[in-house]
Amino acid sequence: MKNERKVLRNKSILLGITGGVSAYKSIDLIRRLREEGALVTVIMTEAAKHFVTPLSLEVASQNKVFSDLYADTMAHISLPAGADIMVVAPATANTIGKFAHGIADNLLSLSFLSFKGKVVMAPAMNWRMYENPVFRKNLDTLLNLGVIQVGPEKGSLACGEEGIGRMAEVPDIIEATKGALTINDLADENILVTAGPTREYLDPVRFLSNRSSGKMGYALARAALRRGAQVTLISGPSSLPQPKGVKFIPVDAAGDMHSAVNRELVSSTILIMSAAVSDFMPAEKSGEKIDKTGKLFLKLTATPDILSAVAKKKNRPFIVGFAAETGRKLEKARKKLKHKNMDLIVFNDVTEAGSGFDVETNKVVLIDKKKESELPLLNKDDVADAILDRIVELRA
Ligand code: PMT
Repeated sequence: MKNERKVLRNKSILLGITGGVSAYKSIDLIRRLREEGALVTVIMTEAAKHFVTPLSLEVASQNKVFSDLYADTMAHISLPAGADIMVVAPATANTIGKFAHGIADNLLSLSFLSFKGKVVMAPAMNWRMYENPVFRKNLDTLLNLGVIQVGPEKGSLACGEEGIGRMAEVPDIIEATKGALTINDLADENILVTAGPTREYLDPVRFLSNRSSGKMGYALARAALRRGAQVTLISGPSSLPQPKGVKFIPVDAAGDMHSAVNRELVSSTILIMSAAVSDFMPAEKSGEKIDKTGKLFLKLTATPDILSAVAKKKNRPFIVGFAAETGRKLEKARKKLKHKNMDLIVFNDVTEAGSGFDVETNKVVLIDKKKESELPLLNKDDVADAILDRIVELRA
């Protein structure tokens, strides 16, 4: 896709795999990293070979797999020197302990010592080990030195117990890796993003809503987080996984979204309203399921216009709105920018192929008081970055 911006494209990733059950997930991790254009070189410990074979990793990475310190005598220098980032997944308590104390007794721990870039680490172990004070001290030592931790998750563990210790999911490890390779140009910003549809209930089981999936808003939240912002995501009902690292507030109706926005606004420097807020709601809501008794006439009333209400506030944040139009009605978007007193509006024609609701891509025009820029069809992650680029320019 033209103008596609892939953070991991041509990035050389040194992937350390240590001896944990979740090592099998590293095959999927390698596959996804390569799909993003990264070049992956694996260093595995001897213990990791009990859980995943070097051959599988060689096939997945299409690259030689390293593990023997003495077979490749200079690998502990040459591999780290040629890598943009080091990712260790899974990272066992043993390896984390070695890293924390500078113990360099295998190719991976030696490579960690000679690597000068950023390290992302996905710990995985039994919850008792994860909570052990000796382990915590080792982990803290690494975190204080700038190592980036992703996970672990709570859930059922390989040993059959429940608790914290499951390795982070592959998309979260990829997101953390992208974040580590991205410039933090939004580090001073506190960004409030709204996403998804709202539901306006007629009765306890029926509602009016729209086709928004939340994809555009979630992409914005992830991109802002990657670029160093503090992010709050207020989301209408969506089946998407909650982005890790954001403050997530689920809501249902426009009124709930309005209250949540008002609550979170105090600490926000930027508001991005990508949610498809219902414009109408039933004038009355029945407390019980409405019986089927022939025709039903609905009386609708306007929902609160969240964006306009925020724009009227004295200490308002920088406001980005969207215009979902059916057709190339740019003039309508220009008017919305003005009437709703926004700083930037993102026009999308939701009838255009690959654009708008519930698709992976979007085709938008960014309109502000100084400039209009029409972007090609892009995936929503790239649209999100383009919107954030313009915000950075306008706030410079
Ligand atoms: O979620 P996806 O499936 O990825 O789809 C993305 C999207 C099409 C929903 C998104 O790109 C989009 O266009 N979102 C805004 C949809 C919309 O409500 O547009 P609007 O032109 O009706 O509203 C203009 C602006 O006012 C929007 O920023 C909207 O969030 C805001 N608004 C609208 C109504 C209302 N009561 N309160 C509001 O704040």
